[in-house]
Amino acid sequence: MRQTAVMTNKDSPRPTTSVARVMLDSVDDMAAQLFDRLDGLSDAEYLWQPAADVWTVRAGDDGPVVDFDPDRDIDPAPFTTIAWRLWHLATDCFAGYTANFAGTAADETDTSWTLDAGEAVERLRSSWAEFRATLVGFEDWFSELGENWGPWHRHCIADFAMHASNELVHHGAEIATLRDLYRAAGPGSGLAMPVGEAMYSLRAIRRLRTDPLPVADIKIMLDAAIQAPNGGNLQLWHFITVTDRDLIDRFAPLYHEAWWAKRADSGYTPETLPDSHASARRLADEIGDAPAIVLFCSIAKGAAAANAIIPAVQNLLLAGRALGIGGTITTLHPSVEDRVHELFGIPDSAQVVYAVPIGYPRGRFGPVSRRPLAEVSSQNRWQREA
Ligand SMILES: Cc1cc2nc3c(=O)[nH]c(=O)nc-3n(C[C@H](O)[C@H](O)[C@H](O)COP(=O)(O)O)c2cc1C
Repeated sequence: MRQTAVMTNKDSPRPTTSVARVMLDSVDDMAAQLFDRLDGLSDAEYLWQPAADVWTVRAGDDGPVVDFDPDRDIDPAPFTTIAWRLWHLATDCFAGYTANFAGTAADETDTSWTLDAGEAVERLRSSWAEFRATLVGFEDWFSELGENWGPWHRHCIADFAMHASNELVHHGAEIATLRDLYRAAGPGSGLAMPVGEAMYSLRAIRRLRTDPLPVADIKIMLDAAIQAPNGGNLQLWHFITVTDRDLIDRFAPLYHEAWWAKRADSGYTPETLPDSHASARRLADEIGDAPAIVLFCSIAKGAAAANAIIPAVQNLLLAGRALGIGGTITTLHPSVEDRVHELFGIPDSAQVVYAVPIGYPRGRFGPVSRRPLAEVSSQNRWQREA
């Protein structure tokens, strides 16, 4: 972290008698310092939710949207993510100010935004630059704001420059502190559940609610997946998170077909299928309801490449358990392979190892039921009843 201000006004003439010049230089320093602190912002930090019921940016039907209670005066205000704060600065503040000076302000603030941290910073940068250009365009900083500004119309441009820099600095400081907290909390800090609790209650969750999952949580799960051990650390994996409704609708019948093809390979028909398959059978009918399906692909063919991905799927499910998100490991069948590859653009050199529908459970997690340890383990030598 940089502790000193980044002075941008070295070249402006000093001393100066222009108060506006002094103020503008100072505002420039504040902006430069903020952009310095935003350097390298990751998507995970951007969407980090260290508290419940946050205002943030979420995936919407027509692209990402800013999610908050329209009653912004709610007291106490909910926690807001870095994503929300950047939107607020870029849109509510600077784009809004520029539009108000131009007399083109819309009745409602634009709540479409981005889930990409780098893009959000660039949007803030350009919204700030446009607002700054507007400020610079005023020759007399002590002229009144004018009637567009309602109760503040008798205030002057200099007042407004100070108000804008106040927004910039106080939200900028909040964002910078959140980044410090994120770093201090360490990776995986979104996963506070004790590992024992997660392991002992991790059931195959096949009945899923349709509610969309927070993008930040999916990212945490995927990030946990890629921490997994894997052969030679070659990381021969690629994860496709399918949330697009049309793609899920087209995948669902392929999964259904694959599931029944596997049953046919085992000699079962719908009439002879044992009751123990009831839950998996229902998933074959209902997988299209899942809000997301993660395809665990290996970027090479063959059993060794496929096996190397197994620990990753367990990590993803454990992380999901800690976040209250369930899922089930499922496999497909060679009879649908070509169509699945075509649907998701998967090359012939790769393979889908598991398809994992994930979502909030309609039932409850755990406990798991397993045979006693003594029955399945022995010491030093193989000891198992035939
Ligand atoms: C490699 C593997 C493949 C699996 N394939 C399927 C599947 O195709 N469909 C399904 O519904 N469950 C599948 N499962 C989930 C298991 O059926 C489930 O973990 C097992 O029945 C134990 O249930 P529990 O975890 O809820 O205790 C699979 C699990 C593993 C490890």
